[in-house]
Amino acid sequence: MTSYAIVGASRGIGLEYVRQLAGRPDSTVFAIVRNAAKSTHLQAATKGLKNVHILEAEVTDYSTLEKAAKRISDVTGGKLDCLIHNAARMEPVPVMKGFDDYPSMDELDADFIVSYKINALGVIHSISAFLSLLRAAPTKKIVVISTAGADPTFVRKAGIANMSAYGMTKAAALIATTKYAVKLQDEGFIVVSMSPGLVDTTGTIGEKGDPEMRTLILGAAEVFKKKGVSLGAETPEQSVSAQLKLVDGLKPSDNGLFLAHTGGEYRA
Ligand SMILES: NC(=O)c1ccc[n+]([C@@H]2O[C@H](COP(=O)([O-])OP(=O)(O)OC[C@H]3O[C@@H](n4cnc5c(N)ncnc54)[C@H](OP(=O)(O)O)[C@@H]3O)[C@@H](O)[C@H]2O)c1
Repeated sequence: MTSYAIVGASRGIGLEYVRQLAGRPDSTVFAIVRNAAKSTHLQAATKGLKNVHILEAEVTDYSTLEKAAKRISDVTGGKLDCLIHNAARMEPVPVMKGFDDYPSMDELDADFIVSYKINALGVIHSISAFLSLLRAAPTKKIVVISTAGADPTFVRKAGIANMSAYGMTKAAALIATTKYAVKLQDEGFIVVSMSPGLVDTTGTIGEKGDPEMRTLILGAAEVFKKKGVSLGAETPEQSVSAQLKLVDGLKPSDNGLFLAHTGGEYRA
């Protein structure tokens, strides 16, 4: 059996990872969410599946991740093959804000710190909590879902001055992931960041999806195209199936890379 922990599995890309991995008969999937009862899309998608375990953790609260690691250990006998850290602060209003969109500098500071705790420190908390389990398995793969928005060349080419806290804190996560790759290199780990592309995850917002957000995402793809940045919106199924091909094929020389879901190192 190959064991996977997906952190941020309630909806969107994380949910799709659970769905696709659960379809593999030789896999055990730990879907880690903030609130299991409210993760209705996940509950519906995994109902009756024996190889999916839903666990609760909040990435800003390290003790909850430690408890999730203990629960995984109880099921697997102390091992975890692959960690996929996907959780991020994605609520549209804070994500879209630029530097001038705050009533005061104190409010900017407070909001950026919220994003930093989830998007940057959350990665460190998650890797650290599961590290002893990952060390005990032969696979030793850690995948952190990143974004083109953490890359200065993409930000410049696409002309994105807003999404400030999101971009800055995801860039911090990219460096944190790279540091772990360097730190764990000699132990045989493969630690990578993965850009998922532009993914229309609006189908799992709320109970019935969010058509307005969908229009915004499709509009963003058109704007990028006009600026010469090719980034068409994909379905979660398309993006995650491409990501999983890369995760399956990760090799030691990939350690530390920022990969594009389409293959190879991410380039804007
Ligand atoms: N969609 C895109 O086009 C796109 C593009 C580039 C990169 N990404 C990256 O892909 C990843 C997933 O994005 P998505 O579009 O699938 O977003 P999404 O549908 O909004 O899902 C975000 C997930 O993160 C979880 N989460 C948020 N804060 C958390 C916390 N404090 N502790 C634990 N879990 C938390 C959410 O759980 P709750 O349900 O509890 O809120 C949810 O499961 C993110 O890392 C994002 O930066 C997405």
